[in-house]
Amino acid sequence: MVTATTIVKEIPVQETKRTRSSSFTQTKPKVLRPFNTNEVKILLLENINETAIKAFKKQGYQVETYSKALAGEELLEKIRDVHIIGIRSKTKLTKQVIEQAKNLLAIGCFCIGTNQVDLQAAANQGVAVFNSPFSNSRSVAELVIGEIITLARQLGDRNNEMHQGIWNKLSKNCFEIRGKVLGIVGYGHIGSQLSVLAEAMGMTVYFHDILQIMPIGQAKPVDSLDELLAISDFVSLHVPETEETKNMIGDHEIKQMKKGSYLINNARGTVVQIPALIKYLQSGHLAGAAVDVFPQEPASNGPHFDYYPELLQCPNVIMTPHIGGSTEEAQRMIGIEVSQALTKYTNDGTSLNAVNFPEIDLRAIREDDKNIVRVLHIHQNIPGVLKELNEIFADHNVEKQYSDSKGNIAYVMADIANVTDLKGLYDALIATRANIQTRILY
Ligand SMILES: NC(=O)c1ccc[n+]([C@@H]2O[C@H](COP(=O)([O-])OP(=O)(O)OC[C@H]3O[C@@H](n4cnc5c(N)ncnc54)[C@H](O)[C@@H]3O)[C@@H](O)[C@H]2O)c1
Repeated sequence: MVTATTIVKEIPVQETKRTRSSSFTQTKPKVLRPFNTNEVKILLLENINETAIKAFKKQGYQVETYSKALAGEELLEKIRDVHIIGIRSKTKLTKQVIEQAKNLLAIGCFCIGTNQVDLQAAANQGVAVFNSPFSNSRSVAELVIGEIITLARQLGDRNNEMHQGIWNKLSKNCFEIRGKVLGIVGYGHIGSQLSVLAEAMGMTVYFHDILQIMPIGQAKPVDSLDELLAISDFVSLHVPETEETKNMIGDHEIKQMKKGSYLINNARGTVVQIPALIKYLQSGHLAGAAVDVFPQEPASNGPHFDYYPELLQCPNVIMTPHIGGSTEEAQRMIGIEVSQALTKYTNDGTSLNAVNFPEIDLRAIREDDKNIVRVLHIHQNIPGVLKELNEIFADHNVEKQYSDSKGNIAYVMADIANVTDLKGLYDALIATRANIQTRILY
């Protein structure tokens, strides 16, 4: 009789495994070292999330942290000799500040926007800027679900009344959201997440986007904004701020919406014309609205949000101070995402997702790739530079090479074999006419 034991004995499991794995074996990516940089120094301002600090320390970088933003002399003093600076939205990195930062390789904006950085000045100096535009998509999508229920049940008004000691139990014009139609304008990172959550709550989802996007779940695209507005019980806006989306929702659009429907704006303040919104809330055409973003927003916290007094008086309106993406989870994700981008740029030269810079990546150099060095050459985008570089590389074997440009900046990444004189190679590269910044990793 053949038992399980004999079968195991008869099949040379170990041997088969060894043969299979050896045919696919690849050595690990090599950890590259910079040729002409000492220990990497990082300055992190504005209380950047612990996930980033841990990630940098794990790399062996020297990390200095501050909980506040820095400005003036203090900022100049601190930025002078660091390789990377991490900021959020309050530290202003102007041309004058960036020009003082002679060792700077990259700037990490641990937030969504990059308006606080002079991106062109950074690029001109060969400094790549990274941010994290999509880490908070889920946070925004969840807030919208909360707002849909809050509006459908008039929770904001009931809550305000209770705080004034008013007991107002009613069911008229209060609804379940199950079976209602959600119209999503802009089916990108947030819009598509929202689509999934809304369907799980029993809603029917339609969307409108200027791009042809594969719907998720049962969601269906419609051809025009007007069509979407006309069929939706709830309209939620998730478009970026562009020339086309500025004042996108005004008198004409709100009039297209169903009587008794709701408008939700967590996108950008300029997308909705506030006077039109007030008009249709006051007339009762709209049964409510949730607004997280405003054309004008205060620069700091405090009791000074007085730009839209009539909106404050409208019934069933949920207003929040631009907190759509403000969660602990989003902050953690931002910390992870931006620190990864900065680490990859520092260690390997990969500039993917840089906002001001040509985006370049190359297959990793592996542990058994002997004598291969990686050249990272940032230069002015003028004719003849590649010819000059290739003349320098001519005595070696170029294993792989990639170059790209963005505006007046170009970036070459090249893996060169059989380099014995690193200093000679480096000196030749920095002497090229259009050189802005050169690094060699080996
Ligand atoms: N409230 C907050 O705190 C908060 C947080 C994060 C993002 N946002 C905002 O949310 C918006 C969406 O963010 P996202 O991450 O989903 O962006 P995204 O780029 O992933 O998606 C935007 C989508 O809108 C579409 N679009 C662009 N113009 C359009 C138009 N005229 N009509 C229809 N569709 C159009 C694009 O094709 C894209 O699919 C942005 O404005 C962003 O600034 C707000």
